[in-house]
Amino acid sequence: MAEPLLSVRSLEVRFRLDGRSMRAVDDVSFDLQKGQTLGIVGESGCGKSVTSLSIMRLLPSPPAQVAAGEVLLEGRDLLKLSEREMRKLRGGRIGMIFQEPMTSLNPVYTCGDQIIEGLRVHSGLSGKAARDRAIELLELVRLPSPEKRIDDYPHQLSGGQRQRVMIALALANDPAVLIADEPTTALDVTIQSQILDLMRDLQERTGTAIMLITHDLGVVAETCQQVVVMYAGSVIERGPVDKIFADPQHPYTIGLMAAVPRMDAGRARLASIPGSLPPPWQNIPGCRFASRCPLADNRCQAEMPRLREVTPGHDVACWKAPIEGAG
Ligand SMILES: Nc1ncnc2c1ncn2[C@@H]1O[C@H](COP(=O)(O)OP(=O)(O)OP(=O)(O)O)[C@@H](O)[C@H]1O
Ligand SMILES: [Mg+2]
Repeated sequence: MAEPLLSVRSLEVRFRLDGRSMRAVDDVSFDLQKGQTLGIVGESGCGKSVTSLSIMRLLPSPPAQVAAGEVLLEGRDLLKLSEREMRKLRGGRIGMIFQEPMTSLNPVYTCGDQIIEGLRVHSGLSGKAARDRAIELLELVRLPSPEKRIDDYPHQLSGGQRQRVMIALALANDPAVLIADEPTTALDVTIQSQILDLMRDLQERTGTAIMLITHDLGVVAETCQQVVVMYAGSVIERGPVDKIFADPQHPYTIGLMAAVPRMDAGRARLASIPGSLPPPWQNIPGCRFASRCPLADNRCQAEMPRLREVTPGHDVACWKAPIEGAG
């Protein structure tokens, strides 16, 4: 395979709270290839947002501390850049979309001003050229009457419209990577699929690689080529989407898949598996899923399984894998 565009290597993130340190992300590694979409799934609290915020260096520190690892974008380790260099990348080579656009759009500026400012900072466009480009971007994300809406403030738009403005903002400077953290979770189903279609469309046109964080396995199946399954801060399974959907190997992934009702293009959320995540400050010598795993034995309780390849490109962190006929 070609050199990945974005490569996260052995990332470890800790939070220091009330005098104790907890590991929110532990030894997370994955690659995102140019022009592809990588899905990151896992239940609430497993470390998806902390991973994406670490890539963008947006975690508040303290309490957060990136304790180890590398984040290589086009060969450069983002964790080593100055804050100034990082600001140049955000909104430039890296675009970002979050779940709730109100937190990323500034309420006191019009949508147009925010896009124009992004164009000025990163591409040096100003004046009429910048405004024309902003309208073009709003057209691209299919905001109705962009030449009028460009002067609206974020609160004057609907949730779906704001999300389109966020996407326009994220794409304004032709990013190499788009990081989308649950970009559609707050939207209703019809708008959700419109936004996802739009992202796919834009990706085809621009070749942007997308890291897509979602709870929705249906979205992963439709949108991603690669998937990373996280559990309690770690990657427990990783590989091509078709393999993982056809033959999931980690009991956690198998649980997620089994619990998904047969999907006919419908949207299925990750179903719940009995039990809950262990508290992140708890030191567990073995597999963190063992307390909920139907297959766990003494070794699983005692020794932490590391990721290993079960079939080419498909890695699983489970002592029991390969599990026959799991899919
Ligand atoms: N700013 C913070 N301060 C302290 N702890 C934090 C902070 N942000 C995240 N955490 C903790 O880090 C862990 C991982 O959180 P994260 O937000 O990455 O989960 P997530 O997988 O994105 O969940 P969700 O699906 O609900 O968005 C959680 O235990 C969370 O409580
Ligand atoms: Mg999150």
